[in-house]
Amino acid sequence: MGLFQYIETSVENEIGFITLNRPKQLNALNRTMVGEIVSAAEEFDRDTQVKVILLSGHGKAFSAGADIDEMANDNPITLELLNQFADWDRLSLVKKPIIGAVKSFVFGGGFELALSCDLLIAAGDTLFSFPEVTLGVMPGAGGTQRLTKLVGKTKALEWILTAERINAETALKYGIINKIVAPELLMEEAIAFARKIAVQPSLAVRMIKDSVNKAVDYSLYEGMQYERKNFYLLFASEDQREGMEAFVEKRKPNFTGR
Ligand code: CAA
Repeated sequence: MGLFQYIETSVENEIGFITLNRPKQLNALNRTMVGEIVSAAEEFDRDTQVKVILLSGHGKAFSAGADIDEMANDNPITLELLNQFADWDRLSLVKKPIIGAVKSFVFGGGFELALSCDLLIAAGDTLFSFPEVTLGVMPGAGGTQRLTKLVGKTKALEWILTAERINAETALKYGIINKIVAPELLMEEAIAFARKIAVQPSLAVRMIKDSVNKAVDYSLYEGMQYERKNFYLLFASEDQREGMEAFVEKRKPNFTGR
C-alpha cells in the first residue's frame, strides 16, 4: 500500500480499512485526499486478502465536505484542467463492496463520498447535508444525480435547494443508509456488517454488486439481460460447484474465491 498523507489504511480479517485522517478540519476533502482514497480503494480491489472495503473517518465527523479553502480561488479553466472529478469516476469502478461508517457531519463532498459507498452504517448523531447552495455553488461530485436516483426528485430538490440537515432516522426512512447504530458502537457494528459479506464467495459478491449497480442506470430489460450474463458467468466458478456440492452433501462449503 502506498504512503498517504491524509488517510490511514490497514487490513484486518479480510477487511480493507480506509480512514480519513484530517480530524482538525473535520476531514474536509482536499484534492490530494480524494486521490488517496481512490488509490487505496483501487489497491484493496486488487488485493486478494481483502474482501470488503470499510471507509470511515478519524475524529468527530465523517467529513464536512470539499476543502473550501482549496476551492475558493478556482475558476472554470483551473477546474477543467484539474479534471478532479475523474477520481470520483474511478471510485465507482471499484468492484469490491465499499461500506461507509459515518457519523456527525456528512456534508457536501462528504455526503457525495458516502453516496459513492455501496452500503452505509450511520451513528445516531449523523447529519447529512448539501450546503453547497449556501456557498453560491452546487454539488459537483455526483450529489444531484446519486441523491435523486436514491430518494426521487421531490426530496432531493428540497434538500439540495435548502441545505437542510437530514438526521439518521430520515436517512434510514429514505433508504440512504442501511442501519443506525449507537455512536460508540459504530466501528464494531460496521466490522460485523462487513464480515457478513466477507464470508460469502467473493466472485458472487462481485457480480451481485455489478448487477445491482447496473439497475440504477439501465432499463429493466437491459438490466435483466446484464444480470443473466453475470448469473451464467458464475457457473464457470469453482465456488458455484463447491457451494452446490456442499448443499447436496449437507456440509459447510469451503469457498476459495475462484
Ligand atoms: N473546508 C475547509 N475547512 C473546513 C471545512 C470545509 N468544508 N469544514 C470545516 N472546516 C474547518 C473549519 O474551517 C475549522 O477550521 P479552523 O479550526 O482552522 O477554524 C475546522 O474545520 C472545524 O470546523 P468548525 O469550527 O466550523 O466546526 P463546527 O462544529 O462549528 O461546524 C460545520 C461544523 C457545520 C460542518 C462547519 O464546519 C461547516 O459548515 N463546514 C463547511 C461545510 C460545507 O459547506 N461543506 C460543503 C463544501 S462544498 C463541496 O463539498 C462541493 C462538492 O460538491 C465537491
